[in-house]
Amino acid sequence: MMGLKRSLKSLIIIFFAVALVCTSVLPVAAESTTSAGTHWYVIKDIGFALKVPPDLKIKRAEKKGNFIGSNDKIRVKIIRWNQVSYPNLNSLYKLVGKHTSKKIKKVRRGGLKMVKVLGLKTKVKYYILAPNGDDYIITISPNKKKNPKLRFKDIKKDAKAIEESFRLPKKIPKGAKRITIKKTKFPKPNYLVLVNSSNKISKKWSDKISTVKAVNSRGNKVKAERRTYKAYLKLKHDLEKNDSVYVDLDYGLRTVKEQQEIIDEYTERYGYAYANRIAAKPGYSEHHTGLALDLYLIIDGEEVYLNEEMEKYPKVWKKIHAKLAKYGFILRYPKNSGYPYEPWHIRYVGKKAAKEIMAEPGLTLEQYLARS
Ligand code: DAL
Ligand code: ZN
Repeated sequence: MMGLKRSLKSLIIIFFAVALVCTSVLPVAAESTTSAGTHWYVIKDIGFALKVPPDLKIKRAEKKGNFIGSNDKIRVKIIRWNQVSYPNLNSLYKLVGKHTSKKIKKVRRGGLKMVKVLGLKTKVKYYILAPNGDDYIITISPNKKKNPKLRFKDIKKDAKAIEESFRLPKKIPKGAKRITIKKTKFPKPNYLVLVNSSNKISKKWSDKISTVKAVNSRGNKVKAERRTYKAYLKLKHDLEKNDSVYVDLDYGLRTVKEQQEIIDEYTERYGYAYANRIAAKPGYSEHHTGLALDLYLIIDGEEVYLNEEMEKYPKVWKKIHAKLAKYGFILRYPKNSGYPYEPWHIRYVGKKAAKEIMAEPGLTLEQYLARS
């Protein structure tokens, strides 16, 4: 009897053991089938990952900074938006609100900050605040080029799966198949280039830089050299977070034609003498480099952008100037430098030179360059 009892006991144990193994194995097997049918794309430029069917290959679009992927059913488009002035979900939400009449909602998923556009009948649309400080618009829509009869409802399920996969690359499940799209290599211009009343901008300069566009709080478009703009975003974020100082960009890159327009505007507002003193001749402004930025202040929510108004806030400028070197900027026209003082005009030169120049108050870029 004892022997029978024991073997019955062993049988029960074996049964439970087999059941346990089966239940723990089965879901894993099912999961590995799904992940075999998808690929994780990691887009290094953005610091962004998404999971798509294997026949949907995401690649860099012709325009640098944009990405596209499609198969017979779906099209995924990722385009650089470049409108957020600083990396903060609330600012993205406000800007998207101005950009669309649709309802929107903030989404935090997979470590990303996003705004989803609601109630769209033909596509899924997200605005994403990428960890690199840029913002992107991502749309998932039926690939009508391949199949004009496709409707959004035909791809709804797949689109949802893609949308729900959006995350930071570090949040991709271990062992999943990753395809990494390398970082775009942007040109590195000479950040110490000298453009002043006796040094004209080189005709070849614009081929050497990559620019980004942004829209300021006044709704004006501002262009700047890519690294200069990124450094500015960091400076702005630091000022807001630690000093409660709010700035925005009045001017960045100016064409020769735009420089003439500035001179005309200043002449009308302040007269020829002031315009001639404060604005460089077309072709001789370092705004042509994209490395020079004119800031304006936002004081108690009000935009202060006229020169004579901005000059009324020396304490605010002092806080700004104290942070410039940390992000690679110098105050280009300090007091007593021989140029009219422009507290708002900052110039990107890179961190090393900026630290050396800003360590000696009043030192100009010309004097610094003459030393080496
Ligand atoms: N205000 C500076 C000198 C410029 O126009 O470039
Ligand atoms: Zn300027």
